[in-house]
Amino acid sequence: MARAGRSLVVCAVSAVIMIVVSADHAQGLGVNWGTMASHPLHPTIVVNLLKDNGIKKVKLFDADDWTVSSLAGSGIEVMVAIPNDQLNKLASSYNHAKDWVKENVTKHLRDNGGVDIRYVGVGNEPFLSSYNGSFLKPTFPALKNVQKALNKAGVGDKIKATIPLNADIYDSSSNTPSDGNFRDDIRDLMIQIVRFLNDNKSPFMVNIYPFLSLYQNSNFPQEFAFFDGSKTINDKNTQYDNVFDANHDTLVWSLRKAGVPDLKILVGEVGWPTDGDKNANVGLAKKFYDGLLKKLAKNKGTPLRPGRIETYLFSLLDEDIKSVAPGHFERHWGIFRYDGQPKFAMDFTGQGQDKMLVVAKGVQYLEKKWCVLGSDVKNMSAVGSEVNYACSMSDCTSLGPGTSCGELNEKQTASYAFNMYFQMNDQSVEACDFSGMAKIVTQNASHGNCLFPIQIESCAERLGFRSAVTVVAGALLSLFMFM
Ligand SMILES: *[C@@H]1O[C@H](CO)[C@@H](O)[C@H](O)[C@H]1NC(C)=O
Ligand SMILES: *[C@@H]1O[C@H](CO)[C@@H](O)[C@H](O)[C@H]1NC(C)=O
Ligand SMILES: *[C@@H]1O[C@H](CO)[C@@H](O)[C@H](O)[C@H]1NC(C)=O
Ligand SMILES: *[C@@H]1O[C@H](CO)[C@@H](O)[C@H](O)[C@H]1NC(C)=O
Repeated sequence: MARAGRSLVVCAVSAVIMIVVSADHAQGLGVNWGTMASHPLHPTIVVNLLKDNGIKKVKLFDADDWTVSSLAGSGIEVMVAIPNDQLNKLASSYNHAKDWVKENVTKHLRDNGGVDIRYVGVGNEPFLSSYNGSFLKPTFPALKNVQKALNKAGVGDKIKATIPLNADIYDSSSNTPSDGNFRDDIRDLMIQIVRFLNDNKSPFMVNIYPFLSLYQNSNFPQEFAFFDGSKTINDKNTQYDNVFDANHDTLVWSLRKAGVPDLKILVGEVGWPTDGDKNANVGLAKKFYDGLLKKLAKNKGTPLRPGRIETYLFSLLDEDIKSVAPGHFERHWGIFRYDGQPKFAMDFTGQGQDKMLVVAKGVQYLEKKWCVLGSDVKNMSAVGSEVNYACSMSDCTSLGPGTSCGELNEKQTASYAFNMYFQMNDQSVEACDFSGMAKIVTQNASHGNCLFPIQIESCAERLGFRSAVTVVAGALLSLFMFM
């Protein structure tokens, strides 16, 4: 998914270090770990969550030092990445690429048992049509500079640079994969890129979203988004019974036409959101993942590429400050909620067993307090602007037609918005006023399937947190000196 900008690096400070028994299943399955959350989980908690659930590969969207360091010695394979806004710098200077590799790759290979870095993602879906060509120029030069720097550092055989690309780089609007080819406006560039990847034995990374096929086209046959074989298309005597395979093989055809028929393909993102749209819910997400995981476990591949497909699920956790430009569902891609609670039963082994994933351990919640509309508020015309304000400063993407909180009445909706703002602001008393119309309660304000969440423990801006620790340590030191 496209991501713009970057969150403040914040954290819950009360991580508990735990001994973890790692389950040995989920062969080859990876997940995307995005951190655009107002209250991100502590990286140590996340790494334990990955290990507890037998997840062996993780794809990141940057190379944040703290996140990457937390993966040292975990045995988890890692993809670090360069955000789009850094592409120009890396494209224009090989020296900068060398510095990037030194600071964000080679340093981590040594420290504390080492981080098992396998890939460097150069940009994130930089050729999306909606970017209007903003990243067309720097991406390929940046790719070349980074791979050259990796080679120069002596790690280029094991660590490959690639570009995570959205499936919109090829024309998949037609239903037959054999018609596939790279988009006209980028075809020449794509041909150069895929030949470079091929020469370097680097994989092609593509993000495939059956959910978006459905979201963007209401005539899209819903059953083709899943894996139950109830709709089939015929392409030159090859049968396709799901859009994932059809989309993947549209890429295979595009690569054939570009002269690199055997270039390895990784699926960098695939998943289904659980809220924020009428087709984004736990029922359809479970159905999608059940089908996908069964398919992946069989290592059957697609009609044109039989065998194992290295795949990264999108995504690990919900991210409540992601841009909602593509749609409100953007903040609900997690197979876990913001707090590391699994949303539905899911079996990574593909046996279709109805069991919940292992929940994140050591998460500290704020108090059981909610902010709601006062029951004595009668004049609802004054409430609207307060609700708009609360929503603009927090996350109301669970409100709206067909969403988990879409059935709330006007007063309940106001309470929902007030609570989201209150939790976003760490339950500060000042954040539950709204011209005197709101009040703090200790009774769970949730309604049916609509969860009124409690945020997780106080997040400190990372550098601020570090200096606070230094101050406390300093204070303790001076205390000891007087004892
Ligand atoms: C390493 O990655 C981090 C996080 O993405 C970035 O802020 C930093 O500028 C990078 N280092 C260099 C030398 O470019
Ligand atoms: C791309 O162009 C459209 C239409 O001109 C505009 O609305 C949009 O903001 C542009 N996007 C970017 C990333 O520049
Ligand atoms: C209700 O609130 C609106 C907007 O704040 C205000 O203009 C109106 O006078 C209020 N009505 C009453 C009866 O207080
Ligand atoms: C509040 O109630 C909902 C169910 O309506 C439940 O899922 C949630 O865990 C409860 N929250 C707390 C903090 O107890």
